[in-house]
Amino acid sequence: MAASNDILTDITRNYSLATLLLAWYTTEKRELPWRETGDPYAIWVSEVMLQQTQVKTVIPYYERFLQRFPDIKQLGTASLEEVLTVWRGLGYYSRARRMWEGAHYLLDQRGGKMPKDYEALLLVPGIGKYTAGAISSIAFGQRVAAIDGNVLRVLSRLLAWSEPVETARSHRYFKDHLRVWQPVLRPGDFNQALMELGALVCTPTKPNCESCPLTQVCEGYRQGDVYLYPVKKLKAKRQVVTRLTFVLCREGRVYLQRRPSQGLLADLWEFPGVELSHEGGLNDSLPVVTDDERFKLFQMAVPERTFDGWVREQFKQGLALQGPVWYTFSHRRWKICWVILDLPEPLEPIPSSVSSFRESVGEYRVDAWQDQLTGDNRCWVSLHDLSEIPLPVAFKAIVEDLTDGLSP
Ligand code: ADE
Repeated sequence: MAASNDILTDITRNYSLATLLLAWYTTEKRELPWRETGDPYAIWVSEVMLQQTQVKTVIPYYERFLQRFPDIKQLGTASLEEVLTVWRGLGYYSRARRMWEGAHYLLDQRGGKMPKDYEALLLVPGIGKYTAGAISSIAFGQRVAAIDGNVLRVLSRLLAWSEPVETARSHRYFKDHLRVWQPVLRPGDFNQALMELGALVCTPTKPNCESCPLTQVCEGYRQGDVYLYPVKKLKAKRQVVTRLTFVLCREGRVYLQRRPSQGLLADLWEFPGVELSHEGGLNDSLPVVTDDERFKLFQMAVPERTFDGWVREQFKQGLALQGPVWYTFSHRRWKICWVILDLPEPLEPIPSSVSSFRESVGEYRVDAWQDQLTGDNRCWVSLHDLSEIPLPVAFKAIVEDLTDGLSP
């Protein structure tokens, strides 16, 4: 630990650090809806939403989510479909699915109640170290750390820590310090104050040291170089992938498939498609594919063979590829191109309303994804009902293209 040979200085510094930080937090903190509750479930929801998403984006989702699923029981007894639909637009959908699984676990194993201890919280699906620390400190007043990206940045500057912050060794180093700094009274406020300082003052590119309550105990500031921190590991480049998408239309309906339960956009519905990984250009050019290749790609994307004859005919007519639009995930960029295939006749019975869509997805086995899609994970949906389905935002441009001109 820094300055470990001067115990008195350390004690003074530790004492004043928490005091200064909490005094600042008391007057400067933002009024946020999850700060007006002591309900551990609501705090869980907020913390999950706040991972990878900004506060101002989260607020309306948080309120809507709690209105629809006010407690663990309501969440655990809802269908995954509904949970994903309320989550639609927030991204990183696996967070919602894991929370839904967590609610099941709590109902089955913990009488529908959140445990208060860090270790017990870690056993809940979807609750990792950060979330367990945040819930047990904020909702239950336990003295445990909650280190998110903002806190990492603040700590790296406070301690002038010159190693990459994401490593296990850095985490241990920061936790050792927090164990000393975190007060017995208001440990949750202490954690939130560090997050708040990172969000409002000790920001990534323009830290406002003049209005920081911690300058007198900040080693980075003393050295005159807060910009040197946090030190980051070199990032692998985002992979660029062309996503060729097939939009099958028939009598005002479009064909959707369910994605696998693991990986990118898990469990969401999609317009079928394939990734062309060799097409890696960052420019807006469209991939060049012959009709034969296109047809083979279609067969890869859509396991159901009912439409092959029609689709081959359509490709022969030289359909134009549309797009691209870009969609960025944390580790991948999709260049989305699509082709609209109009199937002129009913080829099999079409469900007559959105309620039959709901019935068909209600029976879907969440963890099953076979090579051959079953009736439960593909459907025809009317354009009017598209908004009811957890379709990834990545496909927004395609939906807009299709629904442009439809009456509301
Ligand atoms: N980011 C993560 N948790 C937060 C919280 N409780 N308040 C504000 N921002 C946060």
